[in-house]
Amino acid sequence: MTTMTTPIALKHPPSAGTGGREEIRNPLRFFMWLTQTYGDIVQYRSSVEPAYLINHPDYVRHVLQTHGQNYNKDTFLNKYMLESLTGQGLLTSENPLWREQRRLIQPAFHKQSLPKFAELMRQAVLRALDRLDAAADAGQPINIAAEMMRLTLDIVTEALFSFDITGQADEIGEAMDTMTTIGKPRHRKVREAIDLLDRIVYAIIDERREHPQRERDDLLNMLLDARYDDGTPMPVKQVRDEVMALLVAGHETTANTLSWTWYLLDQNPDAVTQLEAEIDAALGRRVPDVMDFQRLPYTEKVVQEAMRLYPSAWSISRRALGDDEIGGYFIPAQSIVAMSPYTMHRHPAFWDEPERFDPERFAPEKVAARPRYAYFPFGGGARQCIGNNFALMESMIIIPAIAGRFRLQRVSAERVEEHALVTLRPKGGIWVHVDRRA
Ligand code: HEM
Repeated sequence: MTTMTTPIALKHPPSAGTGGREEIRNPLRFFMWLTQTYGDIVQYRSSVEPAYLINHPDYVRHVLQTHGQNYNKDTFLNKYMLESLTGQGLLTSENPLWREQRRLIQPAFHKQSLPKFAELMRQAVLRALDRLDAAADAGQPINIAAEMMRLTLDIVTEALFSFDITGQADEIGEAMDTMTTIGKPRHRKVREAIDLLDRIVYAIIDERREHPQRERDDLLNMLLDARYDDGTPMPVKQVRDEVMALLVAGHETTANTLSWTWYLLDQNPDAVTQLEAEIDAALGRRVPDVMDFQRLPYTEKVVQEAMRLYPSAWSISRRALGDDEIGGYFIPAQSIVAMSPYTMHRHPAFWDEPERFDPERFAPEKVAARPRYAYFPFGGGARQCIGNNFALMESMIIIPAIAGRFRLQRVSAERVEEHALVTLRPKGGIWVHVDRRA
């Protein structure tokens, strides 16, 4: 029998004291400073409550995976911000509800189920290519970050409820933007945004319940058809929460990943040359399908590297339920434990020249040589992103489709700053000229 080590025998992590204002002003810089000054584990006082930042793959594995049952998502971000919109959807719910819901929803995101989403993704990309064609004709620069938001919203609403958002894209996009930018659930504008999204989502659910569309192979039908073990269907409010959770989790995260990819490519002309050569050889001007992915290995490495430098979910946090020990350090019950893919993906022990863009870091032998949690853009353990393969598939269709036809050139060479809201956005967007490739 093993005995639990007493807290007295354990070290306490170093304490950085108050983050306070600095953290609010620039949480990314604050996290980088914490890891560079104090190392792989540090206690800090966030603006809300005491917390620990852990920045070693073994520690992250401990919290997300091997000791995941000692942690839940009772954090400021989840309880205060996200829950006001997504209620008890997958993103924020806890056991036993979470386990049951995840079991019901998981099959829709299995690798075998994904190809059916490829076609709707390709259709959405064709609409985006038309918009880019128009921009090329007009010769006016566009904000490619806004275009990526529109495109991923188009895709996620099609996948969720076969719903063509073209008519309401601006309204929905704006409501989601208000939500995530202001981040205060009681703010009048946020309430209005939530009400608007609620009206749209409930209207779609009601319409589908009144007029079932059996032939539809979308997530809404899947949620409505799902049955718990006792044979009961999912309550309508729960369906609404799951839809909202998938909308929120699946839209902006993917858009940011794509936007940062365009930004990094613009700064790395050699990578553009290699990417275009791969796309031209594999596809010509076709929009790729699932069968093409294996012939686009460089494209995939580019996306992985973009998610290393700019992980959309830049901070993941948990609350400890009981006292714990991480790497010999004592973590008291109720503590917040924060993990940041942004800082981990720059950890000098696992990444050479961390600031350099180098897709070859994701060559299979290099990946195999790194600890699993040196790279975790989608989190890990039981609560790993359910949409990870969906998002990768989206990227593998969108990037070759656009880069095969157009070259995007930034209007200015200035560095784009990170805006660390709930997700990591490019501040001010990314403005580019859209040129047709010869
Ligand atoms: C590049 C794009 C994406 C990134 C970087 C990303 C990242 C993440 C991360 C880090 C988590 C775990 C959060 C935590 O442990 O606290 C997560 C959870 C989740 N993601 Fe994603 N995500 C992406 C795309 C998507 C898409 C496309 C969907 C759905 C269509 C989606 C749906 C979800 C859901 C429902 C959860 C909660 C899972 C659970 O707790 O069971 N995500 N995502």
